[in-house]
Amino acid sequence: MEINVKQDSIQACDADTIIVNLFEGVTTPGGATGAVDAALDGAISELIASGDFRGKGGEVAVLYPRGAIRARRVLVAGLGRSDKFDLEQVRRAAGEAIKKARALNAQHVATIVHGAGIGRLPVALAAQATAEGTLLALYRYDAQKQDKEESWLKTVTIVEYDGQRLEAIREGVRYAEAIVAGVTLARDLVNEPPNIATPTRLAEAARSIAEETGLKVTVGDREWAQQHNMGAFLAVAKGAGEPPQFIILEHNVEREDLDTIVLVGKGITFDTGGISIKPGENMGEMKSDMAGAAAVLGTMRVVGLLDLPLRVIGIAPATENMPDAHAYRPADVIRASNGKSIEIISTDAEGRMVLADGLVYAGRYRPHAVVDLATLTGSAIIALGQNVAAGLFSTHEWLRDQLVSAGANTHERVWPLPLWDDYADEIKSEVADMKNSGGRFGGVGTSAMFLKAFTDYPWSHLDIAGVALSKKERAYSASGATGFGVRLLVEFLRNWHRAE
Ligand code: BES
Ligand code: MN
Ligand code: ZN
Repeated sequence: MEINVKQDSIQACDADTIIVNLFEGVTTPGGATGAVDAALDGAISELIASGDFRGKGGEVAVLYPRGAIRARRVLVAGLGRSDKFDLEQVRRAAGEAIKKARALNAQHVATIVHGAGIGRLPVALAAQATAEGTLLALYRYDAQKQDKEESWLKTVTIVEYDGQRLEAIREGVRYAEAIVAGVTLARDLVNEPPNIATPTRLAEAARSIAEETGLKVTVGDREWAQQHNMGAFLAVAKGAGEPPQFIILEHNVEREDLDTIVLVGKGITFDTGGISIKPGENMGEMKSDMAGAAAVLGTMRVVGLLDLPLRVIGIAPATENMPDAHAYRPADVIRASNGKSIEIISTDAEGRMVLADGLVYAGRYRPHAVVDLATLTGSAIIALGQNVAAGLFSTHEWLRDQLVSAGANTHERVWPLPLWDDYADEIKSEVADMKNSGGRFGGVGTSAMFLKAFTDYPWSHLDIAGVALSKKERAYSASGATGFGVRLLVEFLRNWHRAE
């Protein structure tokens, strides 16, 4: 779906369905909503007065003009309370409204930009949020179904009366379309079943991003990883039936004058736990154990589409974690590419193994910052809850602050957790430089301290185990993969100015 921008008044435009909005507590609508209300002889005011519609977040009212204007139906989306209003309310209102329009078999929808009027949000950001909420809400994963749900929706047009705002709106929509392409890719890769979303499939996705955007792609196979002494990555891959792939996407790699940011994503395409096998219940959810890699690929797609003025590298070590006669086992001692030896306590602590070699490889680029994303621990979910926030660990305060504020802007929230040496004590080994598991307590912290041993640059780690999937449908996200991380990282990169 494409979003067009047009100068017009919403009550006069040529669409079967128009979308306007209302703040909670407003009794006489103003702006575009007021103009529609007037054209409908006060039908919206009456709806409010009757108490049938209050403008709460998530509410969508449907009105039938019956010839009073060109549109066959008017949707009024609630924006919630004006004192709690932000871009997230815009995305949600846009998402709920377009889903309602689709359910009513609308074909040509026109919407105003939510929040740029009395909401007082900057026009470009409000337009971006309106377009993002609209497009992301329309996403569904039905590739495996023969009987797909039909959609009549053909066009969505953002209509703006004030010609001086059009440029900013077009800019916002251009960003939104690139971002949605990245989020859609990330969601698809996570939703795809693990027999399809194999390491080879992730590598193919990286190649097609490179073809589409001009990024440079390199995919290392098992032999390549051996040449790079990636013992930790290869240990996990030992039991895998699918060939492992070490995926690298580079944007502006020759431009050493630009600041360098490396993104590293955990790419376990299915995590059985290996020899330390997981219980069967809900094991299927472990198809999402490559959500970090998916977020990195999705972000790199956006970076390429927008041609961001930075040197950005995406790295995704991808393999399955399977039990097999060749699989690595507890008590094995493994050597990572920086020479550190690792005593295996649990083969189910495999994410930190593949990330170890990914983080060492990131160091080659002399990065100003490295951010890794991983569905790393169940303990992160215990700590922060499901679909609330990702756990954030940072060696540098300025990097932490940049990510927290990008998280607040996008509502892909991240929350700081400590990198204390106490956690490092738990992964000291008698036989090797470190253990790959510190046991039950503080598992999110010990896993982060493990990763830290493979970094020598400003670094942040995001444990996204609790946010990669959603059991329920949300305003602009179907149940299943959320695509978490893409919007966050793009916002982080867009606002990149080193603050150290
Ligand atoms: N992929 C899992 C973490 C996970 C759990 C993600 C639930 C999403 C939902 C990871 O590889 C894992 O198994 N972690 C173990 C580590 C332990 C063995 C040290 C965990 O968290 O239990
Ligand atoms: Mn595991
Ligand atoms: Zn895992």
